[in-house]
Amino acid sequence: MRKRRIIVAVTGASGAIYAQRVVSLLAEADCEVHLVVSKLGRRLLHDELGHDGLDLEALTDGRPEAVQVHSDGDVGAAPGSGSFVHEGMVIVPCSANTLGRIAGGMTENLVQRAASCTLKERRRLVICHRETPLSLIDIENMATVTRAGGIIAPMNPGFYLNPESIGDLVDYMAARVLDVLGVGHELDVHWDEHLGRS
Ligand SMILES: Cc1cc2nc3c(=O)[nH]c(=O)nc-3n(C[C@H](O)[C@H](O)[C@H](O)COP(=O)(O)O)c2cc1C
Repeated sequence: MRKRRIIVAVTGASGAIYAQRVVSLLAEADCEVHLVVSKLGRRLLHDELGHDGLDLEALTDGRPEAVQVHSDGDVGAAPGSGSFVHEGMVIVPCSANTLGRIAGGMTENLVQRAASCTLKERRRLVICHRETPLSLIDIENMATVTRAGGIIAPMNPGFYLNPESIGDLVDYMAARVLDVLGVGHELDVHWDEHLGRS
């Protein structure tokens, strides 16, 4: 039996820290992570996390062997084929640009091609959009992708668990992403786990 295989795409929207936490949680859950980072995604990893190039050690919290990296320029890489069987793809964070291109059926890079294949194969595609406010174009693109089977999961943390740090907010979002992907985790972020606490 192979491990659970998840494609993680990072695009040029703010919120690189979410990508880092999602990748490290997937690695911790013993998933086989296939990582694709757009050109602007690499810039955000540098600007927001201080990474010099793709720092797999930092992205996986010390489990770099869990990750296989694919070049975003190589649409012929494995995640760009519908025959590459996987359990889900998440784009975290997802720019309005990448959302729009997926909604328009364009596949100019591996992130877009892998997303397109995920939709056509009726596999799970989770789009962690990060932009505010939204134009009607963004909203219509979200509706189009939703009709095609994708799941729009905006980076929009809740505050009802009384977060005390940025890490708490990031954990809340990353845990929700894993929930939507159907991957287990041990983060204490569910409302039912807090019911009855004072
Ligand atoms: C510092 C910085 C922050 C950005 N933040 C966002 C963002 O939060 N959301 C967004 O949709 N685009 C954002 N952009 C714009 C995208 O990076 C730009 O549209 C780019 O073409 C996206 O390319 P990609 O989708 O291939 O990664 C940002 C750009 C920069 C340089």
